[in-house]
Parts: sequence; C-alpha cells; structure tokens
Amino acid sequence: MPDLAPWRSPLSRALHRNRALAYARYLQLATVRTDGRPANRTVVFRGFLDPGNQLKFITDGRSAKVEQMQRHPWGEVCWYFPKTHEQFRLRGSLMLVQAHQTDSALRAHRQQQWRELSDNARLQFTWPTPGDPRAAAESFAALAPEPESPPDCFCLGLLVPTQVDHLELRGEPQNRTLYTQTETAQTGDRHWISQSVNP
Ligand SMILES: Cc1cc2nc3c(=O)[nH]c(=O)nc-3n(C[C@H](O)[C@H](O)[C@H](O)COP(=O)(O)O)c2cc1C
Repeated sequence: MPDLAPWRSPLSRALHRNRALAYARYLQLATVRTDGRPANRTVVFRGFLDPGNQLKFITDGRSAKVEQMQRHPWGEVCWYFPKTHEQFRLRGSLMLVQAHQTDSALRAHRQQQWRELSDNARLQFTWPTPGDPRAAAESFAALAPEPESPPDCFCLGLLVPTQVDHLELRGEPQNRTLYTQTETAQTGDRHWISQSVNP
C-alpha cells in the first residue's frame, strides 16, 4: 500500500477547514496545448484515488483537454483555499481512465466514480460535443443516463503529483514548503523530501 505523501496532511487539513465552502473543491488544472502553449480551466476535485496520492477529477473524453493530456501527459493544478488563505500547486503526470482501460482496478474506480455522480452531472455527458458550434436545444434534452453504465465519453482523470508547492499567506513572514518526489538510483524506490523555502 503506498505511503501517504507528506503534503497530504496539510492538504487534508485545508480541505477540512474550508469544507463549508463548496467552491474550495474547485481547482484550476493547467495542461499543455498541442501547439506547446498553456491551457487552463476549472475542474472539481473528486477526492484521492484510494489507496494512493493521486487526485481524481472527471471530464468528457471529447473535450480539448483530453487530447492535450494524451499528447503531453503533464499538468499542474493551482488550488486556493479562501478561508485559510493558502495555495497548493501540484505538478505531475496526468492519466486518463477511459472506457477501454484494461487495468481492472482502474476500471472499477471509473465505474464507481460514475455511480457517485448526481443525475445532473451524469446528464452533461449526453450533451453534444464540447466546443462544437452550439447545437439545437433538443440535443440537450436526453434523460439522465444509467448509474451503472458510464458512457464511452466519461473519463476519470488522475493527477499523479511529483512536486507540491504549499504557500500559507498567514504567518509573519509567510510560510512556503516545497515537496519533491525523488527516486533512489540503486533501488528505484521513490520518496518525498520537503524543504521550507522563502515565500
Ligand atoms: C466551477 C466549475 C467547475 C467545473 N468542473 C469541471 C469538471 O469537473 N470537469 C470538466 O471537465 N470541466 C469542468 N468545468 C468546465 C471546464 O472549466 C471547461 O470549461 C471545460 O471542461 C472545457 O475545457 P477544455 O476545452 O479545456 O477541455 C467546470 C467549470 C466550472 C466553472
């Protein structure tokens, strides 16, 4: 079972202390466009993959970010917690769990995530292709899909952090901690080191 990374505890604390704010679960996910330029958008944090330190989000396989992630599987999320005045930037690789996923555990996670969505959230995956010219109103009128069978376009996205930058604005002076995952050359074992840096 993977160990909890050391940044999990300050992040869990921030989530807990900001739990009354629904928007504290919205974070900005940056990817790399196919032309090498940045792309950024808001997504909802759907928890951590259990067990592990990977952040879950959901998205539509037809959206631009999915092609970007397939070409350049690297991303960074920026997450601000208004109540506690702190920011987390988590950088790492991005993975997509799609309908054709062969790993049975990941398939089960995708299925479970679909089951946990509200009808309204599931409904959005029946809408016409994101980013295409606006379709006729009737195209948005499908019934909510079955909770047991995710449509092909439903993707579970995972961010696998390798570096985390935590900035706390409260504090005189502010506190900033960098967490970096490193690999031991001989064994290939990965572990985290943390370092307090100037804000
Ligand atoms: C508050 C909020 C939450 C959102 N949550 C998600 C989400 O969880 N997943 C998602 O794919 N898009 C979400 N969106 C829409 C995205 O920000 C974005 O507009 C859409 O995914 C298309 O992005 P793309 O063209 O870069 O793929 C959300 C938007 C807002 C404003």
